[in-house]
Order: sequence, then C-alpha cells, then structure tokens
Amino acid sequence: MTIREFRLERFLAEREFRASYVLGASDCETMSVQELLSLEAGSEDDLLRLRLGYIEPAGSPSLREAVAGLYASVSPDEVITFNGASEGIMAFMNTALRPGDHVIVQFPAYQSLYEVARSIGCDVTFWQMDEEKGWSPDLEGLQDQIRPATKVIVINSPHNPTGYQFPESDFRALVRFAGDRGITILSDEVYRFLEHRADDRLPGMVDLPGAHVTLGDLSKAYGLAGLRIGWIATHDRDLLRRLAGYKDYSTICNSATSEFFAEIALRHWERIVARNLKIVRRNVELLDDFFGAWSNLFSWVRPRAGSTAFPRLMAGIGAEEFCTDLLRSAGILLVPGTVFEHDDAHLRFGYGRQDMPEALERLDDYLRTRFG
Ligand SMILES: Cc1ncc(COP(=O)(O)O)c(C=O)c1O
Repeated sequence: MTIREFRLERFLAEREFRASYVLGASDCETMSVQELLSLEAGSEDDLLRLRLGYIEPAGSPSLREAVAGLYASVSPDEVITFNGASEGIMAFMNTALRPGDHVIVQFPAYQSLYEVARSIGCDVTFWQMDEEKGWSPDLEGLQDQIRPATKVIVINSPHNPTGYQFPESDFRALVRFAGDRGITILSDEVYRFLEHRADDRLPGMVDLPGAHVTLGDLSKAYGLAGLRIGWIATHDRDLLRRLAGYKDYSTICNSATSEFFAEIALRHWERIVARNLKIVRRNVELLDDFFGAWSNLFSWVRPRAGSTAFPRLMAGIGAEEFCTDLLRSAGILLVPGTVFEHDDAHLRFGYGRQDMPEALERLDDYLRTRFG
C-alpha cells in the first residue's frame, strides 16, 4: 500500500511533546490511572489480578456491552473494538471499499477519513463545508456529487476542526438520502457527548434507519487517548465479520490493560464527560472574550460542539508562518490550516485542556509584542 504522509499527525508528532502549551490539540484533559481507578471501589485489586494473555479479538464481552450501552439499538455483538478509532478507520476502508469505488467526504477532514480510501484506489470527492454558513455543508448540493459508483459518505459531527454539529433534521435527512441510494454512511462520532448545549446532541448514526456505521473512541470526549481504544457499531453483520477479519491481521486484539481501564471509564462515562464538558464550556467563553479582544486579527465561527475551533487569521501573514513563530518564541502550539490541506488562513484551536487560561494569557502577550 502506498499512502501519503498524514500531515496533521506528522506535524503534531514533531511538535506536541516539546511545546509548553498545546493550544491546538483536539482531545480533552486526560486523567491519571489513580484518578480513573478512584471512580470504582476495588478496582486497584482487580488491576493487580489482571491476567495478561491475549484477549477476545473483538473486545471483551463486558467492554462491548458497555459500548453498546451508549446507543439505543445496539447489542454487544454489533460492536467491534479497535486500537483507537484510527484502526477502525483503516479496517472500515479496507473492508467496505474496493478500487474504483467513489467516496464522498465532508471537508475539511481528519486526513485518514479520505486518505485511506485514496490509497485503496477509490475516487474521493470533498463535500465542502461553508464558513459563511457557520461551516455547514450544502445538503442540497450533495445530490450533484453522487455517481453510480458512490459507495460511502463519510461525515464527522461534532466536527474536527470546525466544531460544526449537524442539526438533527439534517442528520436524519442525510440518512434518508443515503438510504434511498444504497449508500453507506460512515459517521465519525469521536467527539460525541461534547455538545455545548445538551439539546444539540445527536443520536448515534447506528440508531437511525439503515445499516450505517458509527465510529467512536475514548480519546476525545473522555480524554483517554493513551488507552488507544475505539470501536465501530453497526447492524451490518457482514461488515462486522469482515472488520473482524481485518483486525486478525492488524493487531489481533487490544491491550488487556487498556480494555480494563476502558471498561471502568465507560461504566462512569457520564462523570468523566461532565468533567470535560465543564472545561470545554469554560474555555469557549474564554475564547469568545479572546477573539472579541483581538477581532482585528481573528474572526471565528463559535463552535456548537466538540473541543476544536477553526478561526481565520487576518494578521497579514500565513497561518503556517504564524504557528512556526508562535511555537519558537512563546512555546505555544497551534495547528495551521495547511496541515488539514485546507488553506493557509485558518488555525485549529483546541479547548479541552485545563491549562487554557494560562495558554491564552501567553498568547495574548505574544500578540501584544508582535502586533501591538
Ligand atoms: C475526527 C477524528 N477521527 C478519528 C481520530 C482518531 O482518534 P483515535 O485513533 O485516537 O481514536 C481523530 C483524532 O484526532 C479525529 O479527530
């Protein structure tokens, strides 16, 4: 397989662990093993007794039961777990798609959501999101992109990097649109539960009519990216069988310790998510003030959900140059839009981290020095 460089992941790999303030990350504040175990009495002893052999390839029955519990219509055997959503994306693309298939992908996008399809030999069309319309993609215009070979539509809501969330009516309309044409939707929902207002929460795609596919993980809303646990939930039994066959080659099974921690996290998911949502809501308010004060340099569409935003830089220099200098002079990491293959004018801000007030203060100092 030949696949192009994953620009975002390379960019982060080379900078994220050296920066003093990671203001461009998409995941929420993480927690220590001690904090996680404190959610459940007796879990420390259970951890010490944990046996470290291979575990069930699809994920332990109790983990799949906990994942299924996040949805209204899913049974544990309609869930397959992976080493992060990333492995789920690889597995889905490699089992659902063949060379020559056409795939439509909401854009901008997390690169693997289109790059893996391309590497298989699929034609990819970007379904552009429109900043002027609050980053909404054009539902009417989707019809013009359909071809006889269109097999899959890939969406991501809450969206990385814009923070766009489909209104429920559009989400359901999309399901009808795809269903009428025999197209499968891959719905990347790794930021689900980070809706800033509770009534913006969408049902899982898997709970809507048809055999569509929900992709989830513990990395983003739960802040547990180091566990590398993700999943696919679908009613398509044939797809589940093929996904399992793929995983036999990619990793066989997850890490036993990760699954142990993942089960605890999912048994207490509401507490973990509530903690992170509190941070997110506070930080969005701070960003509102910040962009208000610097409206000569930035314009932004206030996100409705998730932990990222994609403001426009109007400082007379490109986003890439701005980010390079910001990291070098102030130790602050932001992500330029070029890394999303979008443009050199937008920047990704991440606002799921506890230290954001301090990071914004530093950024404010930097802007004062550089732009007065
Ligand atoms: C939209 C989206 N999907 C999938 C992933 C992969 O997440 P992970 O492999 O950590 O579960 C990311 C990570 O940034 C993402 O933003």
